Amino acid sequence: MGDRGPDRKAPLDGWRAAWLNGGMKNIPVDPARFLADLHALRRFGGDDATKGVRRRALMPDDIAARDWLAGRMQEAGLAVHFDPVGNLFGLAEGPSLLLGSHSDTQPEGGWLDGALGVIAALEIARALREAGGPQVSVVSFQDEEGRFGALTGSSVWSGKLPLEAADDLVATDGTRFAQARAALGARAGDFVDPGRFSGFLEMHIEQGPVLDQAGEAIGVVTGIVGLRQLHVTVRGQQNHAGTTPMAHRRDAFGAAAKIATALPDRFAGIVTPQSVWTIGHIVLHPGASSVVPGRAEFSLQWRDIDAGRLDRMEAAITELLADVAADTGCEVSVARLRHDLAPMPMDAAMQAALSAAAETVAPGRWRAMPSGALHDASNLAGLMPVGMVFVPSIGGISHAFEEDTAEDDLVTGLRVLAEAAARLG
Ligand code: GLV
Ligand code: MN
Ligand code: MN
Repeated sequence: MGDRGPDRKAPLDGWRAAWLNGGMKNIPVDPARFLADLHALRRFGGDDATKGVRRRALMPDDIAARDWLAGRMQEAGLAVHFDPVGNLFGLAEGPSLLLGSHSDTQPEGGWLDGALGVIAALEIARALREAGGPQVSVVSFQDEEGRFGALTGSSVWSGKLPLEAADDLVATDGTRFAQARAALGARAGDFVDPGRFSGFLEMHIEQGPVLDQAGEAIGVVTGIVGLRQLHVTVRGQQNHAGTTPMAHRRDAFGAAAKIATALPDRFAGIVTPQSVWTIGHIVLHPGASSVVPGRAEFSLQWRDIDAGRLDRMEAAITELLADVAADTGCEVSVARLRHDLAPMPMDAAMQAALSAAAETVAPGRWRAMPSGALHDASNLAGLMPVGMVFVPSIGGISHAFEEDTAEDDLVTGLRVLAEAAARLG
């Protein structure tokens, strides 16, 4: 470092003195401004009757929200940049830490899932600039919620998913990713070089019941679960619902239901209470009350923090699908819906900075814990040191309009993230 000249001898006080002297990194974030921005973002796609949001990736509300965010980034002195898939960056001048999350939502999403991490990042970037501290960059990744894939924007940016492969992803409404991202128009620039970032910090709601039930304020994430997902197609015989005797049916839904109900038994001895699996989307063909379904197509997803257990669950699924095909006379085929996501540990130094920040801001009211939800942080872990911090979800509810967190907890999370960013800055 060069000589700071006269500044060096000038008396320093308050936050800046503490900063330069390496003491407590109390960044003067503004909780009221942070909460006002969080509520302002909710208005894009906000449901009238609840606190929830519908802001699907690359649909008009998502793009309008990104344009609004871009304006807030610019006001905060950051250089606004959209990449070809709609990831939105607010860039600090030089190399910096990157903070953020995503601003797209599930079809019936909560107001905080993703938005919280983006707006917290924006407030910290703004507060640091005002206070003369080190600059940080801000990001809102695109399609974290998987309208097209899962973590699509960060998967492409991190090089895990080629852009051409992403372009072929199709939403359940039939829209191709290539067609959807064309709506970015002239906004879309090149990909940002990940090499300009020294690390990534993401704040998020827990989306589960652990912190809420324990009455704790903060979770420092140790690792993010791995996820695999299959698209299963069951083909039976489409037939008349009144004239086809039960014994003569090859009912595609009946076979799909057998698969769903047999999974817990097949997984016994393999899974732990933290292992999860979900059939979240199913389509029956032709989908009419008086027709025995000839085809059932559904997603089958499973998650665990241990890669070996994900393998053993997959082997049990493969065996079950073959058994149901043999028992029912239906044909069962599978395709992988998207690339597998491996379980991802968080960086040790990032965890240490977040733990120290949590102990400073919320002494005795935090814990280290794994994440059962996916996050863009998982994709970035191969590129740079990554850390995540959770705040409680009331009742453990998320991916639903009822999702919420006490405002005190939101602000505690903001202060922990700011403190950690300062320690790492
Ligand atoms: C993302 O929200 C996920 O965990 O599926
Ligand atoms: Mn999220
Ligand atoms: Mn989510």
